[in-house]
Parts: sequence; C-alpha cells; structure tokens
Amino acid sequence: MANNDELFKKIVAHAKEYGFIFPSSEIYDGLSAVYDYGQLGVELKNNIKQYWWKSMVQLHENIVGIDSAIFMHPTIWKASGHVDAFNDPLIDNKDSKKRYRADVLIEDYIQKIEDKIGKEVEKASKRFENFDEAMYRQTNARVLEYQAKIDEVRSRFVQAMNDNNLPAIKTLIEDLGIVCPVSGTRNWTDVRQFNLMFSTQMGSTAEGTDTIYLRPETAQGIFVNFLNVQKSGRMKIPFGIAQIGKAFRNEIIARQFIFRMREFEQMEMQFFVRPGEELKWFEYWKAERMKWHQSLGISAQKYRYHDHEKLAHYANAATDIEYDFPFGFKELEGIHSRTDFDLTAHQNYSGRKMQYYDPEQGESYVPYVVETSVGLDRTLLAIISDAYQEEKLEDGSIRVVMNLPAFLAPYKVAVLPLVKKDGMPEKARQILSDLQEDYNCQYDEKDAIGRRYRRQDAIGTPYCITVDNQTMEDNTVTIRIRTTMQQERISLDNVSKRIAELLKESRIVK
Ligand code: GAP
Repeated sequence: MANNDELFKKIVAHAKEYGFIFPSSEIYDGLSAVYDYGQLGVELKNNIKQYWWKSMVQLHENIVGIDSAIFMHPTIWKASGHVDAFNDPLIDNKDSKKRYRADVLIEDYIQKIEDKIGKEVEKASKRFENFDEAMYRQTNARVLEYQAKIDEVRSRFVQAMNDNNLPAIKTLIEDLGIVCPVSGTRNWTDVRQFNLMFSTQMGSTAEGTDTIYLRPETAQGIFVNFLNVQKSGRMKIPFGIAQIGKAFRNEIIARQFIFRMREFEQMEMQFFVRPGEELKWFEYWKAERMKWHQSLGISAQKYRYHDHEKLAHYANAATDIEYDFPFGFKELEGIHSRTDFDLTAHQNYSGRKMQYYDPEQGESYVPYVVETSVGLDRTLLAIISDAYQEEKLEDGSIRVVMNLPAFLAPYKVAVLPLVKKDGMPEKARQILSDLQEDYNCQYDEKDAIGRRYRRQDAIGTPYCITVDNQTMEDNTVTIRIRTTMQQERISLDNVSKRIAELLKESRIVK
C-alpha cells in the first residue's frame, strides 16, 4: 500500500471517480472547503445517520430527537459565548495577500522541528543494533537541542494564547523567522481575532433588518428547546435530546478534504442530568461512544481518547475521540461535560426559567449536561479511509476494494445476468424487483462479469447475485461475497433470507 500522503490522494480521487464526494461548484473552479456528496456519498451518509439515530434514539428509551431550525434568535449566540469568543487568531502576509491562522503557522513550525527529531531517530535506528529510542531521545545532543527549542516556542505560544495577547503571537512569528509559503517574505500584518460564525440579514429591507448567524453547532437548538421537549414528552431526568444537522464555520484555512469544511454536519446529543452526577454520565458516554465507533467494524487501534487538559470555561471534563486518519490522529468526536453553563446562560439572557422540577428530590434545578458531538463528514471520512484497500491477487493483478461495513454500504446487492441473452436479463430483473423493496440494489449487464465484480468492489457492494445458465435450469443463483470473493450457490427462494443473514453477521464488532 502507498505511503499515507499517497494513500490519502488516492482516497480523495476514488471518492470523486465513483460518485461519493465532489468539490462544490467544480465547474466554477470550486468553493474552498465546501463539498457535495454524490449518488453514492449521499447513500453512505444517510446510512451513517440512520445508524447513529438508531443507536442513540431508538435504542434508548430516555433519548428523543429533534430537528431545530438553522436560523435562531441572534441573542442565542451572545448567550452561548459564540459572539464574543468563537474566534481564531489570523494574520495576513502583505505581499502575497494570503491569510493564515497564526496559531497554525506556529504549530507548523513546531511540527517541522519534530520532523527533524524524527529523522535523527530514524537515521540512528538504522545505524545501531539494539537501538534504544527512549534513551537516544534523552541523551543525543542534537535531539535535546531541538526539543529545547520546541519547549521554548510552545511555552511562549501557550502563554500568549491564554492571555489573548495578539501582539505577543505576532512577535513570536517574527522571532521565529516564519515566512509566508507563497511570497517567502516576513511582511506580516498584526494578528487579529476572527469570528468563525457566518452572518446574514433577516428581513426584506435594510431598515429593521437583523443580523443573524448560521449556526456553528446544532447543540444550541437543543438547549433552547430543552423545556419544550421535557414538558411535551414528559421526560424525566436523566434524559437526552439528539439532533443531526448542518453547522457552518468560516474556517480560515481549509485543509484535508472533508475533515475541515465550512459547511458540515454534526450528530449531537445533549444528556440532561442531576447536578453532581455529570462526571458519572461523562464516563458512561465516553465509553458508549467509543463502542459505537468500534461497532463500525474499524479496529480499536485506530481510535484513541485525547483528554483535554485545558478546559473551556463552561466544561468540567472533556475528551476527544481521535481517529488515525491518513494524515494522523485527529478529532472525530467531542464528549464534554458542559455543566449548567448553557441553560443558565439562556435563562439569564431570555429571562425564562430553564429549570426542571425533580419529583424524586422534590426540588427544581438547572440540569447539568453531558454532550456527545460527532462530525458526520469526519465519520464518513474515517469509514472510507479504513475501507479503501488495494489487494494484490494471486494472478498479480490489483483489486481496488471498498471494504465498507455491509450495513453501511450504499448498495447492498448487485444483480448481474452472466450474459445479455437466453432469458437471463429478464430473470435478473425479476430478482432485482423482488429485492428492491428491502435493499438498495444495482442492476448491471454491461461488460464481462469479472469487470462488473470489480466495479461493485470499488463502490463497496457487499453481495453480487449472478444469474447464469444453471439458474435457467434449476432456479439457483450464486452470491459472491465482496470481502472473500467466495461464491455460494443458493435457491432463488432463499436469496432475500440469505442476504438478511449475511447483513446481520456483518455487524460483528472487530
Ligand atoms: N457542540 C460542540 C461542538 O460543536 P466541536 O468540537 O467544535 O464541538 C464537534 O465540534 C465535532 O464536529 C468535531 O469533533 C468534528 O467531528 C465536527 N467538526 C467541527 N468542525 C468541523 C469542520 N469545520 N468540518 C467538519 N467537521 C467539523
């Protein structure tokens, strides 16, 4: 298999070639950090959403879902802290007119030194037998020098960020001699805070219009509906409200395909609990969500937790579930114990009570909240990155296969007549129409059967049903299994039942 950069390029190209993901507005040269899902991408995305919804809502009697509007009252974003604090520090290069995230320029600088350390370690490991990497890192003079530089830069950077000291960030960039990758110069503007929310006007005339925001997270739609749902659904604490929907962030730099987009989708759940019980529920959801990711058939080694040391002002515990993307371990989901911050803020700004009367305790309180928030697009990226494989077959040829979990695959079944004659297409179409009621199916009669199997492999179809000469004699067909390429012959009457069985078996956690 190719190295990770090459692999990532192949995944992006494959996603486009087969209709999973296209750059938005491509005929106009695209729109940065915005993507469209094609005919296969939308199926995969819908299947992921359905699976999340089923595990969070259908399988929990104390969790219900909502679908709140993207537009919300602008004061919501004041109360939530987004108007004042949802910022990234940005800096422009005056020569190239290119804009950068100041923190990313510094992180990239640190990364370059880390890469140098990596190279030193790699060289030494080839030179010495019984190489002790930990010892080498602790004793080699050059590595220690690099590490000291990293520590110094990091300490100045963290201090400046914590103090929101923008001039200090600029000074650091100048002191490190960081140049613009485009112009190669150090001609930088001052660092400014840049709010990530998109705004627009509501109302038809300029007079009396209101600036409103495209929501940067779906969570606030849940908080402001907390009492509506609790009362109309007679929910008792602990209970959760789940939502899937679009969110928008004006990310300064767009990188890594659908990993960081300006328009994306979140699957969020806010779990309302008694004050004092939030850390117990935080641990519960931390474990549950990790189990969910692993139930996608991806091996446990590809995931890790990253506990936050520096907590946001509203949280008393937070962790990320990270996935080992082709560009390294990065955040996939955030699990946050958000205390009573959001509900109390909305209570203060709206003047409406956001309290729950607890019949067991005989008192009212503002509930505490544990949030699980996963990016749908990042989940899809993790799934396709894991699924994309190039297998060398016995005859030396390469098979490109998307080993998607069968229950998520865009098409579950392809029905293929061996040849376009002798009644086979008619028979195949009959099978297709029987299966279509229950499964998303494809019909394909073009090209040799081997090529058709490969086409289905490339889009992740787990089962191919082939109608051949024997079918016309004894009403049996073959089912070819994508992962093993094995075929089994079964009676036509059993096809639907067998597919259901295979789909069920495919949901085994690795
Ligand atoms: N309500 C909490 C919240 O929004 P977050 O960590 O900012 O927390 C949650 O976002 C998840 O949303 C992330 O873990 C990530 O999967 C996804 N996400 C955030 N920004 C994104 C972006 N620009 N593009 C794609 N996904 C994004």
